[in-house]
Amino acid sequence: MQPIELKEGIYWVGAIDWELRNFHGYLTPRGSTYNAYLIIDEKITLIDTVKHHLYEEMIARIAQIIDPAQINYLVSSHVEMDHSGGIPRLAEVAKNITIVTSSRGETGLKNHYGQKWSFQVVKSGEVLPIGKRSLKFIHTPMVHWPDNMVGYLSAEKILFTSDAFGQHLASAERFDDELPRDIVMEEAKRYYANIVLPHSSQVIKAMQAVSGLEVELIAPSHGLIWRSRIPEIMAAYREWAANRTTETAVIVWDSMWGSTAKIARALQTAFENKGIRARMLPLGVNHISDVMTEVLTARYICVGSPTLNNGMLPTVSSFLTYLKGLAPKERVGLAFGSYGWGGQSISQVEEVLRSCGFELLDKIKVQYVPDQNTLQKITDNLQAKLP
Ligand code: FEO
Repeated sequence: MQPIELKEGIYWVGAIDWELRNFHGYLTPRGSTYNAYLIIDEKITLIDTVKHHLYEEMIARIAQIIDPAQINYLVSSHVEMDHSGGIPRLAEVAKNITIVTSSRGETGLKNHYGQKWSFQVVKSGEVLPIGKRSLKFIHTPMVHWPDNMVGYLSAEKILFTSDAFGQHLASAERFDDELPRDIVMEEAKRYYANIVLPHSSQVIKAMQAVSGLEVELIAPSHGLIWRSRIPEIMAAYREWAANRTTETAVIVWDSMWGSTAKIARALQTAFENKGIRARMLPLGVNHISDVMTEVLTARYICVGSPTLNNGMLPTVSSFLTYLKGLAPKERVGLAFGSYGWGGQSISQVEEVLRSCGFELLDKIKVQYVPDQNTLQKITDNLQAKLP
């Protein structure tokens, strides 16, 4: 339970959630952290707390530096309970604490906890003096909720970014250069695809708002603190937020008796013949949140379902609901599937892809079991339509 000093007088005092495997529907195979940061100055300031069940862990870290009762300011940069869950117990200990937050943060915290805490609302661009340092706040609404804001310490060049630049990654390490690059970037990508993606236009605005700041540390509210790979994660966020894709495909399907799976393989052959890498993601064995991580950078999104009771298989409709909510843009879609008599599922898949704003490449509908000739035609037709 050691705190980690980031710069003189500034500490990571968060908590590590080794057990987390599902964050509101998103699989988190490596767990997560809830990052809280303590600044020792004339006004002792804590930036965010942790999920309620890990409050003791946070307090144990703080107690190694100061008596938690001495904390003057709690900066709530985001109301979601993975960061605000420790506030009620903290406010019982630090009785004179002032909660510094955005106006939407104040509303959100009151609606969550119904407590008469002392609030100080800060506007975007406002600076809070805390002694020899000042904290500047920039509102970043919808990255990830309406209340989000980031904080900046100019002397130490630390940007506290709330949910942005996070990763769900539990580890004994605290900095991005202490774990292999591939793990860190994979978790940052998975996090963007499943949490941040629908808010990409706000991400672009937020990045513009902080673009003039000199930054030596990006301190997010989940996962590792960025100190060595700041240019790389900033470049990745610019690409992801702009919906820039690579010339790759994902083929996502579920199958009842293997016919839709055969079509999936015929599509893969077409992509392969054109030199386009296609990831095969049957929904029976792939979680929708892992599929979304691949969707983040793929241009072609092929989705297949046989018809069951006049509709799609539930696994496919679940994926499409998730996909639509996360709202990737600038994609090319293709619906496919086999059917026995009604065949409604394929049009239903196509309709969702259309409602996502995707350009539609094709709709492939095969009755019962596709024979070799049919599969060859599917391959040839798709190949002819690909660049
Ligand atoms: Fe990590 Fe939107 O909370």
